[in-house]
Amino acid sequence: MKDQVVLITGANGQIGTALIPGLQKIYGETNVIATDIRNPKAEVSRFETLNILNDKALTDFIVKNKVTQVYHLAALLSSKGEEDPHFTWSLNFNAYLKLLEIARNNAVEKIFFPSTIGVYGPTTPKINTPQNSSFIPSTVYGISKITAELWNEYYRNRYGLDIRGMRYPGVISHETRPHGGTTDFAVEIFFDAIEKGFYNCYLKSDTRLPMLYMPDVLKATLDLMHADASRLSTSMAYNIFGFSLTPNELYQEILKYIPKLQIDYTIDHRQKIAESWTETIDDSLARNDWAWQPKYDMPAMVSDMITKMKN
Ligand code: SER
Repeated sequence: MKDQVVLITGANGQIGTALIPGLQKIYGETNVIATDIRNPKAEVSRFETLNILNDKALTDFIVKNKVTQVYHLAALLSSKGEEDPHFTWSLNFNAYLKLLEIARNNAVEKIFFPSTIGVYGPTTPKINTPQNSSFIPSTVYGISKITAELWNEYYRNRYGLDIRGMRYPGVISHETRPHGGTTDFAVEIFFDAIEKGFYNCYLKSDTRLPMLYMPDVLKATLDLMHADASRLSTSMAYNIFGFSLTPNELYQEILKYIPKLQIDYTIDHRQKIAESWTETIDDSLARNDWAWQPKYDMPAMVSDMITKMKN
């Protein structure tokens, strides 16, 4: 097999930070190039500044480094993306479409595309959300991701580009605080519980959302990227699901470890976004095509988060 060179865009975010070590283990530290527009908070063996809005810089980077795989994590999330919808579209969609074109012209073999539960909308079935359904997203983040999913399928069918994607639910992790999303509460509550013993939640206590714990996110991502291409029936993005929770259920579970934790609720604009999403997800296509199976349920996730964060 020829040496792989892996480019990660938006590498300083919640998923990139956790994914870098896994990719380094597979491909070697020098073959994984983490990029972002800002410097990373922790030391990364190979990091370069890269603005994906600059097509020329992106092309030069891919050619110079002979990149063979891209994990394209750069994007603005659901809440932050609403502040400037046109800019969000440029970053989340236009830059991605450019990347697809650069990839097919420069021998990039594989692309990982993170999609989201943000592609679901008020017309999507809320329980056991099917792989294909009515998707009329309520945010520009969701619109940009579902449009990109269609282009993934187009590029695969027309040009044979190997693109693999999944619709991440809310991602829970302890490495960094997430930024700009609607599901951020499920991470913030742990940080604030440990640092302050108090959390002010911006969603109503009974808002149910689908989630996935980072070890399962990493496993899903790497398993999908290493699955036999002939087994994959979609390039759009696979539904995946771990468990669902409400802020109150999460609070009650954390109380078992931090009995003094207090919670208050100050609802903001993110409530409306959360209500347009779904509660549980049918991920049987991922289970059938590449044997996806999550390991963590809500109690196991909370126990592991508290142990890791207290350490
Ligand atoms: N975590 C994302 C958000 O809340 C959803 O994919 O925007």
